[in-house]
Amino acid sequence: RIQIDLSAPSKPVSPNLYGIFLEEINHAFDGGLYGELVQNRSFEEGVPPPGMTMIPKPDGTFKMELASLPAGVPKAKWEMPWPWNGNSVWDPKRALIGWSLHNAGGSTGTMQLTEANPMNAASSRSLELTVQKPGVALHNSGYWGIAVKASSAYALRYFVRPGTFRGTIRTELVAESGQVLSSAVSAAVTPGTVWREVMGSLKASATDPKAQLRLRFEGTGTLQLDWVSLFPPTWKSQPNGLRPDLAQYLAGLQPSFIRFPGGCYVEGLSWEMAPDWRKTLGQPTERPGMWGYWQYRSSDGFGFHEYLQLCETLKADALYVAFAGMTVHPENNWPLEKIDPVVQQTLDAIEYAIGPTTSKWGALRAKRGHPKPFPLKYVEIGNEHPPALYGDYYAVFRKAIKAKYPQIQVVMSMFWSGLNQPAINRVGDANIDIVDEHAYRGSGWARSSFDYFDRYPRKGWGIYMGEYAHNQRADFSAALDDSLFLMMMERNGDLVKMASYAPLLANVNKRDWGVNLIEFDSSRSFAHASYYVQKLFRENHPDRSVKTVVTTRPPPDPKAPLMAGKVGLGSWDTSVEFKELRVYDGAGALVHSDNFVDLSAFEAPQSGAWSVKNGVLQQTDQRTSPAMLLLKRPLTTGKLTVKARRVDG
Ligand code: AHR
Repeated sequence: RIQIDLSAPSKPVSPNLYGIFLEEINHAFDGGLYGELVQNRSFEEGVPPPGMTMIPKPDGTFKMELASLPAGVPKAKWEMPWPWNGNSVWDPKRALIGWSLHNAGGSTGTMQLTEANPMNAASSRSLELTVQKPGVALHNSGYWGIAVKASSAYALRYFVRPGTFRGTIRTELVAESGQVLSSAVSAAVTPGTVWREVMGSLKASATDPKAQLRLRFEGTGTLQLDWVSLFPPTWKSQPNGLRPDLAQYLAGLQPSFIRFPGGCYVEGLSWEMAPDWRKTLGQPTERPGMWGYWQYRSSDGFGFHEYLQLCETLKADALYVAFAGMTVHPENNWPLEKIDPVVQQTLDAIEYAIGPTTSKWGALRAKRGHPKPFPLKYVEIGNEHPPALYGDYYAVFRKAIKAKYPQIQVVMSMFWSGLNQPAINRVGDANIDIVDEHAYRGSGWARSSFDYFDRYPRKGWGIYMGEYAHNQRADFSAALDDSLFLMMMERNGDLVKMASYAPLLANVNKRDWGVNLIEFDSSRSFAHASYYVQKLFRENHPDRSVKTVVTTRPPPDPKAPLMAGKVGLGSWDTSVEFKELRVYDGAGALVHSDNFVDLSAFEAPQSGAWSVKNGVLQQTDQRTSPAMLLLKRPLTTGKLTVKARRVDG
């Protein structure tokens, strides 16, 4: 029985609670939401991460050394295993990913990458093709297949520097078998040294989720190719736009805000690898792209302007996450005393979004056809940095932003639980608008911690749950946990202002993260149950939360034994500072070493985060993950205590 007590005081539910978070992870954009169908269109995939010298080691890992530093910064050297984190790796062999050359019917030809005669300043490489006997075919397989639909038209665009080549380039869509699936675009080419653009439209005659783009070279000579692009019909027919089914999922959530572009993506492994929003402006052909944190290159075809445009189209406020000068590896941070250019980079981003058209960056926005300001409301400083160090960086950014743009809400990034954070203590409550806490919690956490926010101290600032999700599964039970989590936030509207699930999108052919909300391949997509939970909550967004009393029959027995099985440990406050973990039963006896609790079955969502040493669980990595223990037999005393020791004792 549920009793609603309308006489008791009610609390407002945050009107902006439901938003989304977008990051280039799992090929969410390139090979996903961003409409481009050609993989490695500008042949830049093999360009190594900037600022790094990659020194191969015999065990297959790479020693990475910082190659260049800002003036006056001492050279910090560090080594890291590469691959790491379970992701794919930077590998020079990726240079021609997506592309293959086919010598058929007596044709002969060769291809290689070249840095000669670049198409423009953003393009460091192009493809050099030598055709000895006509008929050579160059294929692009897209992102695990190019999905084409019968009767749809595909916009083709590529750049060619003819060199000594004389003949025709014929472009078509073909099935894996080689069967032609579309009309053709033919371009006559005569020798020359000027880059020239070819455009056309390919109409598909049949449907195929795994088609390829084929350029056939009828002629002989050596030419260069760059920026080979193929776009399907896009969402709302926007040029350089989005894949319709995926964009529609986003629209279906009616987000009140969009957080972008990361996540770890904004941090980089070194300051040189961190994204610079200014390089994502202009014509897509003029964007150099970047090697991303998630171990693949981003074309940046969907850049800062496009993110802001998406916010506007979806009537969502923009929440831009700025590079804080702090990287994933603190040794590679930009020194605080030289942070001004990085702060300026953030101020410029704000100016681009909302500055007057008379300002430098506002004028550029107007030149791009958008004189009106974009709906930028929040700026977050960095993502998930070690709290003590972070406080000082945050304070500098906040001061500069508030001085120029007092209307901007500055978001403080927090590592996991916001309780007792050194960063907060350092900057003081009065210097905080809203803190971004992340919660990848285990099964049952929301059930056992329903009062988590009720207990949270009120200090005048609000909470943004910028990344939340079940940390092990995406099924109905996870969706049930997520729905409880949303209720926990709704009923604490005075404190919890915003929330966004993470990650949102994943190409099933390259998952960087275990649990994702919307999954897809080249032609199909589906959303997990939790998506529909969020949609349901969003569509039934209450203004106020009223007191309810739930009576169950029979009432739950507080002494009921914990049944054998998995026990989520996400209910303690996970924090980067916790180092080791001991498990006690209800009588206070240490049980981690007997057959009652199986530590070998300890599960952590991000492998490598925990290990068992001398019978004690230990973090092996800075990042703490909520986790699970396997209870081998029921705990009849009805209580399990987990004690965690902080690094500082
Ligand atoms: O959502 C995936 C990742 O999880 C984000 O990039 C990062 O902020 C968090 O650790």
